[in-house]
Amino acid sequence: MNAPDLEIYLDDRDLERSLRDDVRTGLTARAKWLPPKWFYDARGSALFEEITRLPEYYPTRTERAVLQAHAPEIARITGAKTLVELGSGSSEKTRLLLDALSRHGSLGAFIPLDVSAAALGEAVSMLTAEYPGLAVHGIVGDFTRHLHRLPGGGTRLVAFLGGTIGNLLPAERHDFLVGLRAALEPGEWLLLGTDLVKDERVLVPAYDDAAGVTAEFNRNVLRVVNRELGAEFDPDAFDHVALWDPTNEWIEMRLEAREAMRVPIAELDLVVEFDAGEQVRTEVSAKFRREGLERELGAARFALRRWWTDPDNLFAVSLSQVR
Ligand code: SAH
Ligand code: AVI
Repeated sequence: MNAPDLEIYLDDRDLERSLRDDVRTGLTARAKWLPPKWFYDARGSALFEEITRLPEYYPTRTERAVLQAHAPEIARITGAKTLVELGSGSSEKTRLLLDALSRHGSLGAFIPLDVSAAALGEAVSMLTAEYPGLAVHGIVGDFTRHLHRLPGGGTRLVAFLGGTIGNLLPAERHDFLVGLRAALEPGEWLLLGTDLVKDERVLVPAYDDAAGVTAEFNRNVLRVVNRELGAEFDPDAFDHVALWDPTNEWIEMRLEAREAMRVPIAELDLVVEFDAGEQVRTEVSAKFRREGLERELGAARFALRRWWTDPDNLFAVSLSQVR
């Protein structure tokens, strides 16, 4: 297999610098936190793929079914020449869009963007082999920083699937949508996957599965900090916590210290102290309602054109157009 065609806006030095900043800021805050993008080294990306196959984790299979039902319509409405995918990971469900757009006859290029070079390289290699007529060009970048780097030309459809937009806090989400709007031309398209508000008894197990895969995914951020910054976390000394916050309508994942401890982080020349029971917030995963999302899209000058869900209203795929 040939080397994947990758454009790199985040090299090892940038990644280390931003990890250092995030870990220092997050772990010296009064209420400790870490941003979720650091879950996704090669092991974290593989654990996420495992999560997508868990019986409790309905979002991936539900979004896949919605895409399967509507991909031909998406191709017909958008007539996209370039498919961009943000936070693309394995791009597994994206094949449905690639197939529909190829059949429609408009598609020339696929541009996946992900912070995880490991996941992206593998996906680009596979897709290059599977779609010989398609220009597949990966971008190793951060969708909160590098959207202005997206190549132009032809009508673009930007897919942001899986509900990953929900991993941004509300203010970050607004900045993201405004930044994306600025990177696009009037008439271009956003295909957004969003998980919907539902009963806590369905939501919580999706983030706290019986097999403990999500717990390992959560602890993986400590392994990343250990490896990259010479920290001495014992990941097994932290319990996985998943909570539904009904006010913010988001799931929060946290890591809870089982006992009081002091954790040196050599590269930061820092020792982080934990009380017994102290928690670090590692992820929010916001759940949406149509009206709220339409308002957020409108505030960034995206007009909602289509809204598709599954019969149980678990997950929505929406198509919006730049005004
Ligand atoms: N879209 C896929 C993968 C979702 S997992 C799906 O629907 O199954 C979230 C993906 O977003 C991971 O591959 C992770 O590496 C990537 N990601 C997380 N934060 C990111 C950021 N700030 N910039 C770019 N990619 C990011
Ligand atoms: C990638 N993202 C949409 C997932 C989610 O559901 O918020 C990440 C995840 N966290 C725990 N399980 C899956």
